[in-house]
Amino acid sequence: MLIICPHCKKQHNIDEKRIPPNVKMARCQGCNQQFPLEFPRPAPAPPPPAAPTPAPAAPKVAKTNDNVRRIGVSLSKGGVGKTTTSVNLAAGLAMAGFRVLLVDTDTQGQSAFMLGMKPKAGLTELVAEELTPAEAVIQARKNLWLLAGGKGLAGLKRIIDRKDFGGEQTLADALTPLEADYDYVVVDTSPGWDPLTVNVLFYVNELLVPVSLEIMSLQGFGEFLKSIAAIQKYRKGLALKYILPTLRDSRVKQGDDFLEQLKKLYGAAVCEPIRYNVRLSEAPAYGQTIYEFAPGSNGAQDYRELIRKITGNQNLFT
Ligand SMILES: Nc1ncnc2c1ncn2[C@@H]1O[C@H](COP(=O)(O)OP(=O)(O)OP(=O)(O)O)[C@@H](O)[C@H]1O
Ligand SMILES: [Mg+2]
Repeated sequence: MLIICPHCKKQHNIDEKRIPPNVKMARCQGCNQQFPLEFPRPAPAPPPPAAPTPAPAAPKVAKTNDNVRRIGVSLSKGGVGKTTTSVNLAAGLAMAGFRVLLVDTDTQGQSAFMLGMKPKAGLTELVAEELTPAEAVIQARKNLWLLAGGKGLAGLKRIIDRKDFGGEQTLADALTPLEADYDYVVVDTSPGWDPLTVNVLFYVNELLVPVSLEIMSLQGFGEFLKSIAAIQKYRKGLALKYILPTLRDSRVKQGDDFLEQLKKLYGAAVCEPIRYNVRLSEAPAYGQTIYEFAPGSNGAQDYRELIRKITGNQNLFT
């Protein structure tokens, strides 16, 4: 290539390939003056194609399920039919084709017993992250899964107690990531009032309160409502949706009076009562739901009616 010095016009024959790319000036060997090197330089070789960078890992955000219905079955008074209702509600919904997770938050662990199961682990191990959801949740029936309670829940209560803040969200944090798999989450609670009960009330949206139609249960119901109102100040999403009269004995006149009072006070939230039915108390001994043990019994009919009300589908089971 021929380059002419702009000062003395001397011609230089040079091999441009030997000029490093960063050299911008040349010195004329004739007049010893510098001048800019202007000639078309070969375009720098394109950088070698970068190794494909892996797509960034999707953030570990649990799939949320806005359609899941979370129903807590709760009343601080003991022996009013909470577990009988939770199990037969969950099993009936599963029979109707919904995918249901039954969560037992009672140290008595009776939900598993009623379903004839002896799980080795459950809710505590899930919250403590000792087991994955796939290990902690066990299938109890077609469409019905169980997160078992039992004595181990004492450990869960300790986990909640140890938290400096946010302890009331512990259950919600553990269950929300599982919800994508279910249409309903039904939570059975223990009698009394403890940090785990509060956790349930910070998780569920709908509260189903079984009330046996006798004075002590109704008195307990009044007290329970005060506690619920206190929680609702912080948990706007919690609604007292269903009041379920249980253990109804039509021979007891006082029970009818109580039922009328409940209907006057709570209107449509009051469900058709579950009648006293000895089959309901016998079924757990066989590890069977009422639909399996005595499908034609009053108990089975009453729980089917409850499921029709909750689903809003009057044609179910017809
Ligand atoms: N409608 C009913 N008719 C007859 N027996 C019933 C009925 N409902 C529940 N029972 C029986 O009453 C007892 C208490 O019921 P259940 O265990 O469901 O109550 P609970 O509220 O869960 O009790 P706890 O507060 O101790 O957890 C059980 O023996 C159960 O089989
Ligand atoms: Mg119970």
